[in-house]
Amino acid sequence: MKVLLVFLMLAAGAFASCDKDPEGTNEKLYVASCKPGDPLVVNSISITNDDGSTDYPVNVDATLNLLLNVTNTAKQAYPDLTIDAGIDRYTDIFGICSWIGIPTFGLTSGLNACDFGDTNICPLKVGITVVKDVIDLSQFKAIINILSASEPYRLTLTFKSGGQEISCYTVEARIVKG
Ligand SMILES: *[C@@H]1O[C@H](CO)[C@@H](O)[C@H](O)[C@H]1NC(C)=O
Repeated sequence: MKVLLVFLMLAAGAFASCDKDPEGTNEKLYVASCKPGDPLVVNSISITNDDGSTDYPVNVDATLNLLLNVTNTAKQAYPDLTIDAGIDRYTDIFGICSWIGIPTFGLTSGLNACDFGDTNICPLKVGITVVKDVIDLSQFKAIINILSASEPYRLTLTFKSGGQEISCYTVEARIVKG
């Protein structure tokens, strides 16, 4: 039975190939909550070039101009904020599109999410906070080096305060390099 299944997958792979456009990422960034109901809500994320135009596909070799708009819907401010990030690539496995994790070398857990360049958003107040800053990805060079511009990527971002999850989002995007 197992052998037959593998054969069928191989046969399917020979004829089909997966359509690599999950959630319309050929056109634009896709952002979705993975835990609706969590207290920290992301209202919008945008990434632009220096001239203000939309940076898409996202150039991972350049600094990112990030505009982030969040709402803390809890009753109190969060004194601290960290992000754990997982990265998946969208790839073709015998004609079936699948998200497959890539190694992050421990570089993407417990990231300080209070400091965005010149802006410190902690304690994160109740209500809306807008962050506008330039993100330097060079600290993630070891990961960026293994990414290929031919596939869409998905970041799973888990925000924590005091070790407790307060938000989870997935961000899907195509990238370019150089
Ligand atoms: C942030 O998002 C909220 C909710 O969508 C919106 O009302 C507000 O105008 C936004 N603020 C900025 C500065 O973009």
